[in-house]
Amino acid sequence: MKHILLVGGSTGIGKALAQELLQKGHKVTMASRNRPDIDRSHFNHLSFDVLASDASDLSTIGALDGFSYLPGSIALKPLQMLKEEQFKSDMEINFFGLVRCVKSISSQLGEGASLVFFSSVAAQLGMPFHSSIAAAKAAVEGFTKSLAAESAPKWRVNCIAPSLTDTPLAARLLNNDKKREMIEEKHPLKKIGKATDLAKLALFLLSDDSSWITGQVIGNDGGKSTLSI
Ligand SMILES: NC(=O)c1ccc[n+]([C@@H]2O[C@H](COP(=O)([O-])OP(=O)(O)OC[C@H]3O[C@@H](n4cnc5c(N)ncnc54)[C@H](OP(=O)(O)O)[C@@H]3O)[C@@H](O)[C@H]2O)c1
Repeated sequence: MKHILLVGGSTGIGKALAQELLQKGHKVTMASRNRPDIDRSHFNHLSFDVLASDASDLSTIGALDGFSYLPGSIALKPLQMLKEEQFKSDMEINFFGLVRCVKSISSQLGEGASLVFFSSVAAQLGMPFHSSIAAAKAAVEGFTKSLAAESAPKWRVNCIAPSLTDTPLAARLLNNDKKREMIEEKHPLKKIGKATDLAKLALFLLSDDSSWITGQVIGNDGGKSTLSI
């Protein structure tokens, strides 16, 4: 049984990941503002706001075999409408929060621990109106690679880059059938991601089945980042 810390996870991909981990018999500690409706043994919830904390609350959780950071944002606007504050807040939730958490838990992550972060397809594929989130997620990708190098062979560090996935974070972009169809059409596989699609990849990266994979940014995006249709 592994002990995995999820920061975020009361909804969306993180909630699906918590359920997958618990089903496989692992212990999950989740730190988020809201407690999800998960009532299982081996599930602990810590009330935690990464924007209002130096993350020191996470430093006494105990030995950890894995970690994933789920908080993120989607603020899509033309550059002229994006205030500097938006860039700062996207960096704060996507990147600086992650850095604070990793620093705080580092002494608890043992030999062979796996860390899984979340980027976005927009970090590597130029997409209009994504300048703020693309920059913040590019920071996450750079951090992934440097940390993977710095912590090898002790830890593995990887990053998942999803395209649009049906979670509360993306609700505004998917709130009617026409928007859904347009977005599905833009993906070679003609569908929007489901939280479980991403959770299953994170589960694999947290498991020993991926024990030779580190320093990777892995697209899970219906073919969007690599195929031209
Ligand atoms: N959905 C997409 O289309 C999509 C696309 C590309 C990348 N991603 C990335 O995938 C990751 C997961 O996204 P998701 O779609 O699953 O989003 P989500 O449903 O909004 O889940 C995000 C989780 O982060 C937690 N969180 C947010 N702010 C927090 C804070 N201040 N302190 C602690 N926890 C906080 C939320 O829990 P509480 O509210 O309870 O705190 C929630 O459980 C994100 O990094 C996102 O950028 C998603």
